[in-house]
Amino acid sequence: MKQIVKAAELTAAIEEAKKQGLEIGLVPTMGALHQGHLSLIERALKENDLVVVSLFVNPIQFNNKEDLEKYPRTIEADLALIASLPQARAKELLAFTPTVDEMYPQGEPKDVYHFGPVEEVMEGPRRPGHFSGVAVVVRRLFDLAQPRRAYFGEKDYQQIAVIRSLLEQIKYPIELVPCPIVRADDGLALSSRNMRLSPEARAMAPAINATLEQAAEMAEYEEVDDVKEWVLDTLSSYHEINDSPNGLKFEPEYFEIVDAITLQPIASWADAEKNGAVGCIAVWLDGVRLIDIVKF
Ligand code: PAF
Repeated sequence: MKQIVKAAELTAAIEEAKKQGLEIGLVPTMGALHQGHLSLIERALKENDLVVVSLFVNPIQFNNKEDLEKYPRTIEADLALIASLPQARAKELLAFTPTVDEMYPQGEPKDVYHFGPVEEVMEGPRRPGHFSGVAVVVRRLFDLAQPRRAYFGEKDYQQIAVIRSLLEQIKYPIELVPCPIVRADDGLALSSRNMRLSPEARAMAPAINATLEQAAEMAEYEEVDDVKEWVLDTLSSYHEINDSPNGLKFEPEYFEIVDAITLQPIASWADAEKNGAVGCIAVWLDGVRLIDIVKF
């Protein structure tokens, strides 16, 4: 593994790799790596000759200053984790850790991307400018790393739809590889934000996945709206029924059941016959916003 900070150095390494005909895989991250990220890197190492892992907390995708400030930055531990992967020794791996100036040498880009209906639901209206900020940095990473394949985790389900749309707009011949969520043994979806949960909140958080799994079973015999309502009610009343520590509560921001590709809310299961249905949730717990999904 080699760490690269300068964009020009990454460009030179990529040009050399291209001359040798190597296939490049890109794993964009914001650092604070966990097993979920490592699973993306491992897959990229299996499927490509050279892998670029970017670790960059992208300021322009945060619409909340406090969230940006609180975002965990653990670069030394991240590099050690990547280096510990057995395949990372066998294959070429570049860990790209640019500064903000290196990433945006002309200052913060003013480019704005629009993605139509896929960004008008769920995260889109609640985090104005977020997906455009993601698209700007991902495009910059595409330009620098020139990957054949790019790997994204399905926990950020809507982000995958946005990147799919970005690729259609910019027409880069890059294969988008969505990768399954990695969960802790108790079912909680791994996320860099889990580090911010108090021990009590961490102990309560697996109820999110447990509720979604039960919802998937209910989908066999209940209507879409009933399943939606049940998920929201179950989490909202969790603290009353389970006598939660310190009065901790789940505060769901949304739970939507949507078409797996168009991300449009469905009214009946038949509406998602072609692409399948996915339930997407954002829920606050102890001041931390957690997201998760379930496939129906
Ligand atoms: O999913 C993330 O961690 C980020 O949104 C990404 C794709 C690395 C862009 O900053």
